[in-house]
Amino acid sequence: MPLPLAVLISGSGSNLQSILDRIASGAVDARIVLVVSNDPGAYGLTRAAERGIATQVIAHGLFSSRDEYDQALLDAVTAAGARAVVLAGFMRILGPRFVRSFPQRILNIHPALLPSFAGTHGARDAAAYGVKLSGCTVHFVDEEMDHGPVVIQAAVAAEASDTAETLAARILALEHRIYPQAVAWLAAGRLRVEGRKVHLAQARATLAEAPPGAAYLVNPPLEQGF
Ligand code: GRF
Repeated sequence: MPLPLAVLISGSGSNLQSILDRIASGAVDARIVLVVSNDPGAYGLTRAAERGIATQVIAHGLFSSRDEYDQALLDAVTAAGARAVVLAGFMRILGPRFVRSFPQRILNIHPALLPSFAGTHGARDAAAYGVKLSGCTVHFVDEEMDHGPVVIQAAVAAEASDTAETLAARILALEHRIYPQAVAWLAAGRLRVEGRKVHLAQARATLAEAPPGAAYLVNPPLEQGF
């Protein structure tokens, strides 16, 4: 049975779109039962509505504490029947009440190679630092920001000429490939967490098989359909 997912967004929702597209193509065995945004103006709400997916705005400003906000999120996600939660550009930190309700069932994507450049501006900070490689990370969410066990990472070259925008765009293109892949693995029950390590069952290839000089590196390697 497809895994019922709630997706939490704050903005454009291009990662949400990439997951929707891979569900539609049959590569991800999941069903999005609810999209929640903390921002009523998030374009991702329109993307969801266009696909006939239920949406809800839960504006953090209306709550007097993070705990109350967390409870409202939890109520919405639980009422929708979600069995896992995907954070796709969701710009709020989830508190312990929420995180503990979905142990190893919440994924986040971060536009940098964690643990480097955690925080709100991962791609911008990496470009400003002048790194030669950056990328993106999908990880399980724990109670610390941008910290939980890593599911998949993709590395891209960064150039001295890169601005925050050019690097972020290159990274975003890979986000759209690794996030649906990670969700597919979660939905298929192929991820097992042991401390900080995430084990992928039936891994089909190893990074050593990547062609030399590839424009990007993804580990574990992407499978067919991603
Ligand atoms: C992505 O870069 C994501 O990594 C970051 O916020 C951006 C969201 O983009 N957390 P979108 O809303 O999915 O288009």
